[in-house]
Amino acid sequence: MKEKITFLGIETSCDETAAAVIRENENGTADILSNVVSSQINEHKEFGGVVPELAARAHLENIDYIINKSLKDSDITLNEIDGIAATAGPGLIVCLTVGLNIGKSIAAFANKPFVGVNHLEGHALSPGLENKIEFPYLLLLISGGHTQYLIVKDVNDYEQLGTTIDDALGEAFDKTAKMLNLGYPGGPNVEKFSKLGDKNYFKLPEPIINKAGCNLSFAGLKTAVLRESKKINEEDQLRYNLAASFQNTINKILYKKTEIAIKDFKDKTQTKKVRLVVAGGVAANISIRENLSSLGKKLNFETIYPNLKFCGDNAAMIAWAGIKRFKKKLTNTLNISARSRWPLDENAPYMKGPGLKF
Ligand SMILES: Nc1ncnc2c1ncn2[C@@H]1O[C@H](COP(=O)(O)OP(=O)(O)OP(=O)(O)O)[C@@H](O)[C@H]1O
Ligand SMILES: [Mg+2]
Repeated sequence: MKEKITFLGIETSCDETAAAVIRENENGTADILSNVVSSQINEHKEFGGVVPELAARAHLENIDYIINKSLKDSDITLNEIDGIAATAGPGLIVCLTVGLNIGKSIAAFANKPFVGVNHLEGHALSPGLENKIEFPYLLLLISGGHTQYLIVKDVNDYEQLGTTIDDALGEAFDKTAKMLNLGYPGGPNVEKFSKLGDKNYFKLPEPIINKAGCNLSFAGLKTAVLRESKKINEEDQLRYNLAASFQNTINKILYKKTEIAIKDFKDKTQTKKVRLVVAGGVAANISIRENLSSLGKKLNFETIYPNLKFCGDNAAMIAWAGIKRFKKKLTNTLNISARSRWPLDENAPYMKGPGLKF
């Protein structure tokens, strides 16, 4: 096998149309030859959330241009690329299909290997673009659709320790922003306005904080924000106080649950040098980073965060996961189809819906 593998990555699982060309380097990390992301914020702003049909249409309109630009920016030709990776799930089927089909078509046309990437594996391995990290590590994946603690044992080898039993953390941020009328996209605005508020002003619930191991729940917190938001009559300072109290409550929940996850990780892996990787869109939140880093200092584990540009959806992480899978001979045939649900640990219990008991 060639020494330094180069991949074209394509990402269209939700509301970002993205393509990137990534090459391995001698440090065991990646040279980012190009990384093009076109966000659909304007298309969805009016609706306060992603509208699947609009997202799919925008992907179709942009994808050719984005892929061409990523190839042009990288300064290499399709011929010099060793393989193509495209996100195959989880996500919105109408959106995934756009990037997946074009990725497969390019692979067929150029006669290159193809890898259908699990978007969550993209997030899970994303810190490796810039840091050489040894396995195993504990992953806290916090994004728009997922909130999970996982042991990352290797590429393609994950064990879930805990997950949300209702909303994802990104969803809780987005809904809080909507209830407080802080603008779209929600997460970054909650973070911005919470800096102007008093984090101790509202006492909000911390669901299942003292039970269920490192599983998490945010639905009760969201309902409490809704209840308080109705009382405050759009008064600015109170809105900021509520945003700050929400952020503070999230920090308290993550602090406690991460402490439990670190213990589980140590018990299961017997690893001496413990590393916590925090990835996914919500990992861009600086307050969460500071909070988890302070826990790291207390419990003596290393915290690793991807560069901000690799937290939200991007194709660099998809190309990188593609390279890692290709090197393990985990390529796919062109029969692979899109999957809306695709857990990293296929053996993990399904933790949503009625009947859960702790
Ligand atoms: N600074 C921030 N603070 C809090 N949340 C943030 C911040 N920046 C982005 N987010 C949130 O991150 C989420 C988007 O992350 P990401 O793009 O990884 O999600 P997704 O791809 O839609 O979901 P998934 O990766 O689970 O399929 C949104 O919910 C957004 O509000
Ligand atoms: Mg994502």
